[in-house]
Amino acid sequence: MADTPTYALNDGTTIPAIGFGTYPLRGEAGTGAILNALEVGYRLLDTAVNYENEFEVGEALRRSGLPRDEVLVASKIPGRHHGYEDAVASVRASLERLGLEHTDLHLIHWPNPSQGKYVEAWRALVQLQKDGLVRSIGVSNFTEEHLGRIIDDTGVTPAVNQVELHPRFPQDRMREVHERLGIRTEAWSPMGKRRAPLDEDAVTSAARAHDVSPGQVILRWHVQLGSLPIPKSADATRQAENLDVFGFELTPAEVAAITALGEDDGRLFGGDPDTHEEM
Ligand SMILES: NC(=O)c1ccc[n+]([C@@H]2O[C@H](COP(=O)([O-])OP(=O)(O)OC[C@H]3O[C@@H](n4cnc5c(N)ncnc54)[C@H](OP(=O)(O)O)[C@@H]3O)[C@@H](O)[C@H]2O)c1
Repeated sequence: MADTPTYALNDGTTIPAIGFGTYPLRGEAGTGAILNALEVGYRLLDTAVNYENEFEVGEALRRSGLPRDEVLVASKIPGRHHGYEDAVASVRASLERLGLEHTDLHLIHWPNPSQGKYVEAWRALVQLQKDGLVRSIGVSNFTEEHLGRIIDDTGVTPAVNQVELHPRFPQDRMREVHERLGIRTEAWSPMGKRRAPLDEDAVTSAARAHDVSPGQVILRWHVQLGSLPIPKSADATRQAENLDVFGFELTPAEVAAITALGEDDGRLFGGDPDTHEEM
């Protein structure tokens, strides 16, 4: 099994260039799928309070027998826990369910700007990092304005912003913002889930040219954009395939053709962070 390349984050830590998305893997079958992901080589697991599978993630890690420091576990604070004390309690409860002493990355799941409390949640994460309960801190679904507010307030720039990013919604603008601020772009629904362009010419022709699958082409496109994808698969074969994207390179024209599949609002479910509320 080849090692996955890593990125350096702005806090001096490193993170694998591909992670494993765990939603909605739950129960014994979910634990088995997550354990298999570790066995085929994933070293970054993405969970959240709202996925209701933190126990399964911790259990898969224990069953794998892997040393704790070889696997990164990321979780997220939900909208209902944005108050400072609530955010601290949320992280402690996540650690309890995971059975871990610290998470490796903790994110604010959505900004929920109508509540106006994401800055408080960010202050809590800054303190929790100092206390050693979380290694790296970041956000998810934050716009440029939300990022500006938390950075101005605390002087601390998130290491990661996990945003919706796939060929139907390539997020050119947010990728530029992240580049400027030194934030790693992480991509949720990296395939495009039910709208995954597995049959589009731009994808199938590149798959033929490089003798790989359409899914591998999409994930390689992320890698070449500098976007860190966290594909979910419950299937052992697809899990292994999705990690095996470092042995070929798309041409600039192939990358551009896939990016051109983007639509003005190619979001999967209208998850505009300025208006979408997720508690
Ligand atoms: N921060 C947020 O707000 C947020 C929101 C949504 C998701 N997420 C995170 O992002 C992760 C991934 O997102 P997602 O599950 O929504 O979307 P996704 O990873 O883009 O797509 C998953 C779907 O693609 C299929 N698939 C996986 N690999 C494939 C391949 N090589 N070829 C064909 N089909 C393939 C899977 O089916 P099989 O399982 O049958 O392989 C599954 O139905 C989640 O698990 C979660 O951790 C975060």
